[in-house]
Amino acid sequence: MSDPIAAVVDAVASTAPDVREGLVGRRTYEAGANPSGERQLEADVYADELLEARLLDIDAVTGYASEEREPVVRADGEGQYFVATDPLDGSSNLRSNNAMGTLFGVYDGTLPASGDDLLASGFVLYGPITTMVVARDGVVTESVIDGDGSRRVVTENLTLPDEPTVYGFGGRVPQWTDAFADYVSEVESELKLRYGGAMIADVNQVLTYGGIFGYPGLRERPEGKLRLLFEGHPIAHIVESAGGASSNGERSLLACTPEELHERTPLFVGHETYVDRLEAALSR
Ligand code: F6P
Repeated sequence: MSDPIAAVVDAVASTAPDVREGLVGRRTYEAGANPSGERQLEADVYADELLEARLLDIDAVTGYASEEREPVVRADGEGQYFVATDPLDGSSNLRSNNAMGTLFGVYDGTLPASGDDLLASGFVLYGPITTMVVARDGVVTESVIDGDGSRRVVTENLTLPDEPTVYGFGGRVPQWTDAFADYVSEVESELKLRYGGAMIADVNQVLTYGGIFGYPGLRERPEGKLRLLFEGHPIAHIVESAGGASSNGERSLLACTPEELHERTPLFVGHETYVDRLEAALSR
């Protein structure tokens, strides 16, 4: 039997050029909102529909869940894998023509699930070039995706660099809790700010230069902004597989199971020393 996880990765990679080309002319908002109440761009819906069709076309995939739609979509066959995606993470960057990405996780079993049920995860980054990072069996691989959807591996075993350099934290500063603000004032004297407003692009800076990215729980929104299943689990799986750590402020995001598909979570990923200090600061 062919490798079903590889089939999912291939499907996302071969869809990436279509998503990228489809961005042009899909920069306006749809009438509706996604299940989290965020306005959807035409490009969000386009990427979601492309991925739904191509991932459910894989025999081994029985369910498709996305940040852009309410329920899990089931296939007719007898596959056992579920794929959760954020089809266009950071799509509010489309208007200003900045980076964004596609994020996915492959789960062995029904959703919602624990991050420990992830078999593989990955993202496509639509930057000046299109790259793909995939984590599987504890190994992270970075490839460049060409215009025809083919991939060239550029980093065989991607790990966080030894020295942390950059940080990026989301949320308006007056909305940060005192404990988090105190932590940030330590971090900003040690690392350099890099924040672009698309999680995948910001985390890729951490994977490349080392450091920490986070979107904390806020005063008026303690649950934070990012979704555990669609953003938290896959990005935590990638960063932990690359030798880093993840946290919801208390424990690894991979140890968390959402009660609902679209549940939000505070999210932190990066060098273990910075994640450990963050957890200590928030527990004070
Ligand atoms: O929807 C998620 C997202 O676009 C992330 O990719 C990003 O980290 C965050 O929202 C940006 O939020 P804000 O605009 O509040 O900085």
